[in-house]
Amino acid sequence: MGAPYIQPRQGSISHPLRIAVLISGGGSGLLALLNHQHSKPTTHITKLIISDNENAKGLQYGDDFQISTIAINLPQSHDRAQQRILHENIIHERLIESNIELIVLNGYMRILTPEFVKKWKGRLINIHPSLLPKYPGANAQRDALEDGATITGCTVHLVDEGVDTGKILAQSEVPILQTDTIEILQNRIKEKEHLLYPKVLDDYCAHQSIQR
Ligand code: GRF
Repeated sequence: MGAPYIQPRQGSISHPLRIAVLISGGGSGLLALLNHQHSKPTTHITKLIISDNENAKGLQYGDDFQISTIAINLPQSHDRAQQRILHENIIHERLIESNIELIVLNGYMRILTPEFVKKWKGRLINIHPSLLPKYPGANAQRDALEDGATITGCTVHLVDEGVDTGKILAQSEVPILQTDTIEILQNRIKEKEHLLYPKVLDDYCAHQSIQR
């Protein structure tokens, strides 16, 4: 539905795709990706880290790995819709200035407008802590627990104009135990996310079919 997905060019070890990672918080997924990119030659390289929150702990990984980082707070405006558009316009400009070819959402907690998505569709990828289409939205782990589910997981998907509705690239299952709290379940899912997301990026950037 909506605009077509336009895949980025094929990355290679000698000419890796230039990635921007967008975060909002702790950045454990960002760290896993950076470790992956530094552990072997990859078809993608992180060139920019953007946070919508200047206190995001994950920003420190930019310093550790000597990658440009920017915190872009929401601009002042009484008009919420206008505020989102202004914010995304600043992000878009920074991405273009840095010649970014693929945006990796990794714990970015803002919903992007359809206008922004259209500009990057196919070059905008996300990880979500459930087996989509189950439990979309910001409280996926809580929703799975409240539903009495015994299995959940994580999903890597292309972003479309909806919320967690884009084309699914890969999923990984995670068991739910009766004694789980939201936090325990979050951490168990993150362990799987940290393995799955870098692998999916390897394949997507190399234009290979996705291996799990
Ligand atoms: C991950 O579970 C991701 O799926 C969700 O937000 C969490 C980010 O965690 N969208 P972190 O900031 O990478 O530690």
